[in-house]
Amino acid sequence: MRRPMSGPGSLQQGNIVARIDTLLGAMTLAEKIGQLNMAAGSGAVSGPGERVALEEGVRAGHIGSVLNVWGTQQVHALQRLAVENSRLRIPLLVGLDVLHGHRTIFPIPLAEAGLLDEGLWERSAAAAAAEAAADGINLTFAPMLDVSRDPRWGRIAESPGEDPYIAARFAVAKTRGFQGADLREAARVAATAKHLCAYGAVTAGREYAAVDTSMLSVHETYLPPFAAAVGAGVAAIMPAFTDLAGVPLTAHGELLENWLRARQAFAGVVISDYNAVSELINHGVAGDIVEAAALALRAGVDIDMAAGGYSRGLEQALQRGLISMAQLDRSVRRVLELKERLGLFAHPFARGESNPPPESRTLARELARRSIVLLTHRQPVLPLAPGLRRLGLIGPLAEDSAQMLGPWAASGSPREPVSVRAGLAAALPGCRIDCLEGYPLSDDGEPAIGAVEELCQEAELVILCLGEAAVMSGEAASRSHLGLPGGQRAIAEAALASGTPVVALLSSGRPLVVPWLIERAHAVLATWFLGIEAGHAVADVLTGQHNPSGKLTVSWPRAVGQLPIFYAQRPSGRPSRSDERFSSCYLDVPFTPQFHFGHGLSYSRFELQQLECSPLTVRSGGSFTVSVAVENQSDTAGETVVFLFVRDLVASVAQPVLLLKGWQRISLGARERGALRWNIPVEALRFIGRDLEPTLEPGRFEIHVGHSAASVERLACTIELSA
Ligand code: GLC
Repeated sequence: MRRPMSGPGSLQQGNIVARIDTLLGAMTLAEKIGQLNMAAGSGAVSGPGERVALEEGVRAGHIGSVLNVWGTQQVHALQRLAVENSRLRIPLLVGLDVLHGHRTIFPIPLAEAGLLDEGLWERSAAAAAAEAAADGINLTFAPMLDVSRDPRWGRIAESPGEDPYIAARFAVAKTRGFQGADLREAARVAATAKHLCAYGAVTAGREYAAVDTSMLSVHETYLPPFAAAVGAGVAAIMPAFTDLAGVPLTAHGELLENWLRARQAFAGVVISDYNAVSELINHGVAGDIVEAAALALRAGVDIDMAAGGYSRGLEQALQRGLISMAQLDRSVRRVLELKERLGLFAHPFARGESNPPPESRTLARELARRSIVLLTHRQPVLPLAPGLRRLGLIGPLAEDSAQMLGPWAASGSPREPVSVRAGLAAALPGCRIDCLEGYPLSDDGEPAIGAVEELCQEAELVILCLGEAAVMSGEAASRSHLGLPGGQRAIAEAALASGTPVVALLSSGRPLVVPWLIERAHAVLATWFLGIEAGHAVADVLTGQHNPSGKLTVSWPRAVGQLPIFYAQRPSGRPSRSDERFSSCYLDVPFTPQFHFGHGLSYSRFELQQLECSPLTVRSGGSFTVSVAVENQSDTAGETVVFLFVRDLVASVAQPVLLLKGWQRISLGARERGALRWNIPVEALRFIGRDLEPTLEPGRFEIHVGHSAASVERLACTIELSA
C-alpha cells in the first residue's frame, strides 16, 4: 500500500505522478544516479574549490541534493543552477542537522526530553524549522531517535533517552513540528528519523562499534520510535552507521525493505549516513565500491550521503547485473516524490525568500529552564535567598558560554549564549558575584586550590559550574570514564571542604559519575547544555523564578561498571535484591542507579494517593481506567510528572520489571490536591512474542504509578486479563 502524498486530492496526485513519470522517462542513466547523490558543502561559506565542484555537479545533473550548505545566498545560487541551468531543471534537496534549533539554539535533546511535554517538543521543532527554512534548508537530519542506555556513548546527548515509549512520543512531536500539515509550507522542512536502528547499543559504548543485540530487543526497544515516526508521516529515514549482528544497517534489506517499507508502509526516502555506503567495504561485506553501491541500493537506500559511492559504482553495478534498472528507478522516483511533496518544483526558492522569523529566545528560555533537573537538595539552600550579598562562582563552565550550545549546533553562534555568570548577575543585581575558573576545560593547567579556598571564605554560598566541554559528547565522543574531566574534582573538593554551602551545576551531554559530589554538595542540578538562554534559565531555577520540573529520561549510574543501566530490565531467575547475595547484584555498589529513570526534584513536595484501577478484570478489545490523587504538601506551587508503568507478571517471553505506558504533567498550587486519570486500551498490554509479533496473553498485570521508576515512589495495583 503506497501512502498517498500530501496535496489537495487525487487530481493533484495524478498530475504529480504523471510529471514524475515523464521526468523519469527523459532521464539519462547519469541523471538518474545524480538524483541519488547527496554532496557535502562545508557550512554557510564553502571553500572556493568545493564550491566549484558542487556547482559543476549540480549543473551537470550529477548532484540531486546537498548537505551542510545554508544561507539564502549560497543555497539559492546552487538551486538556480539546478532549476535554470541543468538539462531537466530538477530542484535540489538541501539538508542540515537541525537537531535542537538552528540560529536559536535550544537545549540538547537529552535535556529537552526531560520536559515530558509533547506540545513544547513540537513547538521547538517548528521554530527550528522556520529558522532553517529561512536559510534555504528544506530537509533536516532529525529527530534522532536512538534509544540510549549507555552514557559512555557520546550520542546519548542527541537522544531522547532510554525509553522507547518516550522516544516514540518524541518522534511524533518532532515530526509534526518540523513538517507541519503540508510540506509545501515555506516554513517547514522534511524530517529524517535517525539512526535506524540500535546504534545506541554499540559494544562497550564505543562509537561506531559493532551492535549484537537480539532481534527481540530490536522489535521491543529500538524499532518502536521509528514506527511512530513513520506513522506521523516522517519524510525520510536514515540507517545507522553500525551493523546489527553482522549486517550493516546500510545494507539491511530485512529491516529497510521488509519491516520499514512492507510492514510500516513507509513511502518516503532512505538517506544513508555520511559516507556509510562506501564504509560497507570497511564492514567487510563489500569487496569494492561497485558491490557496496549495489548492496545499499538493493537494501533500499535511496540517497548516498557524501560517499560518491552511487556515482562511482551504480553504472558498473547495472552492467554487472548486480542491480536492475527497476531498482534504480524506484529510488529515483522516491526522491522526485519528496521534492514534489516539498513543493520544490513549483517554488524552488520559497525557502529563503522570507525574512527570518524573530529569534525564539523566549521559547529557548522556557525550554531551558524546564530542562534543568534538580538531582539533590540535601540542605534547603535553594531557592537562593533574595538578600544574598556575596556569591562565589567556581568552575570552567561559569563563563564559557560557547559550551552551552552543546555538540550539534551547526549554525548557532558561539558568541550568543548567556553564560551562567551573566544570567545570575542579571537576576541578582544587588549581589556581588566573584567568579573563578579554578581549572580549565582544556585540562592543561593546575587547579587553583588556594584561590578557590580564598573565594569560598568570602562567599555566603558557592555555585560550582562543572562538567564537560561540548565536544566531549555528541558524535565521535565516547568516554570510558564518566567522572568530571581533568582537575575539576580538585577544585570541587576544595570548595566542599571550605564549609561554605555548595550548589553544584553539572553541564554535560550525559549523566556523570560523581557520587562523591552528590553525597556532599548541598544541592546538585543537571544543567546539560541548555542553548542560548542557558544563564537566564539557570538563574530562573536557582532564584525560584521557575520551580524545577525537569526529569531524567535516562537512569543515572553510580559507576561505569553498571553500564548499560536502565529501568526496564528483565527480572532474571534471581531478581536483584539488596539483601540477597545470590541475586543479580554487585559486591561493590548497589545494583540501583544513583538516580532512577524519571527522577527530578522540585521545591514543592508532591504525594501520590488513592491509586485505583477499574475494572480489575479486563478482556481483549476492552480498556481500563487508572486514577490517582496528587497532593502538593508544600507552600510552593509547582509542577510534577506522574508516570504510569505496567508489569506483565507471567508471559511466554520474560517481560521487564516495568514498562512505561504513559505519563501526565500536573501543576498544583500550594497545598492543592488534584487527580489524574488514564484510560488504557487492553492492546497496550501487548508485548513482542517469540515470533517477533505483537502478542497479548491472559494473566495478571501490575499497574504502577509513580514519580520515577524508583519503587519507593510508586503505588501499584493488579488487574487480570481474562482469556
Ligand atoms: C553524521 C551523523 C548523522 C548526521 C550526518 C550528516 O556523521 O551520523 O547523524 O545527520 O552525519 O551530518
